[in-house]
Amino acid sequence: MAVHPTRHGPWAVVTGAAQGLGAEYARQLGAAGLSLVLVDIDAAGLEAQTATLRAAGVDVVPVTLDLAAPAPAAAIQAALGDRQVGLLVCNAALSLVGQFLQHPIADHQRVLAVNAAATLDLVHAFARPMAERGNGGVVLMSSMAGFQGTARVLSYSATKAFLLALGEGLGAELGPSGVDVLVVAPGATKTPTYLATEPKDDTGPLMEPSEVVQEALRALGRRPVLVAGRGNRAAQLLLSRLLPRRLAVWIMARAMAARYPD
Ligand SMILES: NC(=O)c1ccc[n+]([C@@H]2O[C@H](COP(=O)([O-])OP(=O)(O)OC[C@H]3O[C@@H](n4cnc5c(N)ncnc54)[C@H](OP(=O)(O)O)[C@@H]3O)[C@@H](O)[C@H]2O)c1
Repeated sequence: MAVHPTRHGPWAVVTGAAQGLGAEYARQLGAAGLSLVLVDIDAAGLEAQTATLRAAGVDVVPVTLDLAAPAPAAAIQAALGDRQVGLLVCNAALSLVGQFLQHPIADHQRVLAVNAAATLDLVHAFARPMAERGNGGVVLMSSMAGFQGTARVLSYSATKAFLLALGEGLGAELGPSGVDVLVVAPGATKTPTYLATEPKDDTGPLMEPSEVVQEALRALGRRPVLVAGRGNRAAQLLLSRLLPRRLAVWIMARAMAARYPD
């Protein structure tokens, strides 16, 4: 199984679709024959994406929305009308880089709202009709930072652990009724948001968004969790399976201090 318009269509909702991995999901899903509901807070970016995809013959409904606002799923459903959603890609996220106590609590709470609470709301609303029909797909974008507490991106890392648990459990509940659930955990990927954090340690190759999304769409329906990229899979095997968890946390803290020095 991989993404398929019959099983995962006709409409896919992609959040954070104005740029980066979300824009790439939109491009590849459109090319695979799905119609798209694209959600983002960035109205101008969304408009540009919509124009490009429509020029390529893809049906697109753009929804400009702050996912931290109350009831984001209801706002998206209002724009959708009676279109049937067969795939939900929860991709939008916020991250705060730097030590936990340097950021105001309101900023951490916004990370929680966008990454965790909005995703919970969207999954609850969109997975129900999929389960009732007996087909569909849900993709949750977690991160390598979600496998253990990760210093210097604490609230982000905690929300990514939440998504990992949410997706794994959802797959166990809905898999038997025909809904494919996939958690994707990328490592560092060459997106505008990642590059804007000005990481200082980038000696190794970053993944391209196209590679991450290609792997994800191939993995849908085949496995519950995907760590994108061979190098990242080797690192995750070491950190999560072979080393004691305390050591994994320490290694990640060292790596993040090198990437984002004070
Ligand atoms: N890039 C990486 O290295 C990497 C690594 C691991 C995991 N991931 C995960 O992969 C996903 C995509 O990452 P990314 O780097 O492509 O982009 P991103 O910056 O995480 O998100 C892409 C889009 O989401 C939008 N967005 C942010 N807050 C929003 C809100 N409140 N409501 C609606 N839209 C909002 C952003 O708009 P604005 O730009 O206007 O804020 C942006 O257009 C995320 O879940 C991320 O955690 C990325």
